[in-house]
Amino acid sequence: MSHVMNTYARQPVAFVRGEGVWLWDEAGKKYLDALAGIAVNTLGYAHPKLTSALSKRIQSGVLHTSNLFRIPDQEAAADRIAEITGLDEVFFCNSGLEANEAAIKVARKYGHDRGIAEPAIVVMEKAFHGRSLATLSATGSRKVQAGFEPLVQGFVRVPLNDLEAVRQLASHNRNVSAVMVEPIQGEGGINVSRLDYLRGLKAICDEHGWLFISDEVQCGLGRTGKWFVYQHAGFQPDVVPLAKGLAGGVPVGACVVGNRAKGVFKPGNHGSTFGGNPLAMTGVVATLDAIKEEKLMERAVKVGDLIRNEIRNQNLPGVADIRGMGSMIGIELDRPCGELVLDCLHAGLVLNVTADNVVRMLPPLVMNEAEAREVTARFVPVLKAFLQKRAAA
Ligand SMILES: Cc1ncc(COP(=O)(O)O)c(C=O)c1O
Repeated sequence: MSHVMNTYARQPVAFVRGEGVWLWDEAGKKYLDALAGIAVNTLGYAHPKLTSALSKRIQSGVLHTSNLFRIPDQEAAADRIAEITGLDEVFFCNSGLEANEAAIKVARKYGHDRGIAEPAIVVMEKAFHGRSLATLSATGSRKVQAGFEPLVQGFVRVPLNDLEAVRQLASHNRNVSAVMVEPIQGEGGINVSRLDYLRGLKAICDEHGWLFISDEVQCGLGRTGKWFVYQHAGFQPDVVPLAKGLAGGVPVGACVVGNRAKGVFKPGNHGSTFGGNPLAMTGVVATLDAIKEEKLMERAVKVGDLIRNEIRNQNLPGVADIRGMGSMIGIELDRPCGELVLDCLHAGLVLNVTADNVVRMLPPLVMNEAEAREVTARFVPVLKAFLQKRAAA
């Protein structure tokens, strides 16, 4: 019996080697990866630039110093993030929930600075922001929250893509200091915000002096064809929490601020022992440079469109919707489909199911079109067999 705490329903497979978009298990079986460790392995596996940068950093002997000292790798990573986000200041941490926790603290501090004693943050139904007490309270899923009450106060929930609900809230709630939105909800089932909705939300924030927090932990960093989803909508938010794909697999998180949120945190307001350590920062610089140099954002769009179109062209009864943006792909079925994950593993394909009935693909950004065709060649027969098996049952 394993002593690993039983917090995940794990698949009976262990991957021990990887190259490009391919993984091998302990028995030597080869798999095509359409999940990237849930949007983490941006550059796939054994990417030469990332591997060599990290190896050099390890060989230097300095994996960690402390934020009590200057960290040149951290400065280089922050410069790159400032350039691609268009924002000003980066706080480094180690995960998505930490990036969101920092964003929530910025929103509260911003509210207090403006004389609001009990600041509130507007959050969305079906959102996922993490599993710390504050971030699970911000999350719009009872499943995530149940058993951990009392929840952290100060979140007001509205449906996604419903501007009127936010307008009504603005008209009677004087405590709001920020809106926090995942522009494409990942865990919630690849639910895409309309771009005019995001622009409308931004206009409400501007009118009332609220912060706009764009949680791009899953959807950001090139996956949708631009660095960030808010760039498709054509405006700049105030706070952008990042993690997952930021360092190609090395644990890292970042809370990026600018505009109204610039300068809100002062020395002593926040901290993290490991945040911004030289190893993770080397991963950030190598990953962001490779995305840019290898034009991986363009690839992400081609691959995502190809997979969606090929599956759409099958016209399969049982497929309720096919959606997403770039290499964020959701295939909603008319029935629960968790067992498809293992069926696909048997067929040598790695993907995931979220929100009970949405097949989710988040391929590494290095995937090419031939590999994308291979994804559908493996997926479609498994899906057809599943739909028949389930219909017959
Ligand atoms: C949008 C979003 N925010 C936050 C998180 C939490 O990130 P982590 O698991 O690194 O804490 C996730 C993780 O799935 C996420 O998708």
